[in-house]
Amino acid sequence: MPAEKVREFFDQWEIYRKVVGADYLNHRGAYAAIGEVIARMAQPFSFLDLGAGDASATATVLHDSKLQHYEAVDISAVALSLAEKNMAGFSGGKKFIHGDFFQQVKERRESCDVIFLGLSLHHLPEADKGTFFSKARALLPADGRLIFYEPIRTVTESREEILARWWEVARHWTELNAAELQKVKDHVFGSDYPESVEGYFAMAERAGFRGTRVLFTDPDRLYAVFDCAV
Ligand SMILES: C[S@@+](CC[C@H](N)C(=O)[O-])C[C@H]1O[C@@H](n2cnc3c(N)ncnc32)[C@H](O)[C@@H]1O
Repeated sequence: MPAEKVREFFDQWEIYRKVVGADYLNHRGAYAAIGEVIARMAQPFSFLDLGAGDASATATVLHDSKLQHYEAVDISAVALSLAEKNMAGFSGGKKFIHGDFFQQVKERRESCDVIFLGLSLHHLPEADKGTFFSKARALLPADGRLIFYEPIRTVTESREEILARWWEVARHWTELNAAELQKVKDHVFGSDYPESVEGYFAMAERAGFRGTRVLFTDPDRLYAVFDCAV
């Protein structure tokens, strides 16, 4: 099962923590952009964090916001228990669900104001991403939004080409030892399916989102943050 392979990698949370700590995935820039949108939300809101990981970056941007209810979904029990710790300071409603977010979204009936994905949507193949957008759209109220931070490719790049371009950058990640770097490479080459900005715009439009904006891209154009309004 593809999601099972992803879980095995993220159960070794220490490697991912090092990658984030060195800002190799541009968390600082991405979450600064996400934080600006969150800070502008004037009404109390519920937040569904799909592929929440340890929620360390989301906890930071949600701090001092109008957050009313937080819900995390993750396939890794290791990551989810860290998320519970990192959200311990939030005294509003919260829920931590151990499971596959795609399945959860397909089965879910309760609406939520913000659906967020941080580096988890790209593990779905393209057709499932399209289904995800439609299901997510159906769960959002009239003033809801879908925000996602994901790896991207150019419109002409194949999967093989973008993964090769990513590796040209990642092979210089000196904070990781050779064994850790190999595990990251195996994970990305085995489980990542980046889409182009144009591809994401088209999927969002087909699902009925009114407008999509890019909030952030890194200098290597390997990652972007999107904000889709209902
Ligand atoms: C790269 S980490 C991102 C963590 C955090 N959102 C961030 O921005 O740093 C991806 C997380 O998504 C989770 N994940 C990936 N695919 C998933 C799926 N189908 N269902 C639930 N969680 C999933 C992984 O277990 C992992 O914790």
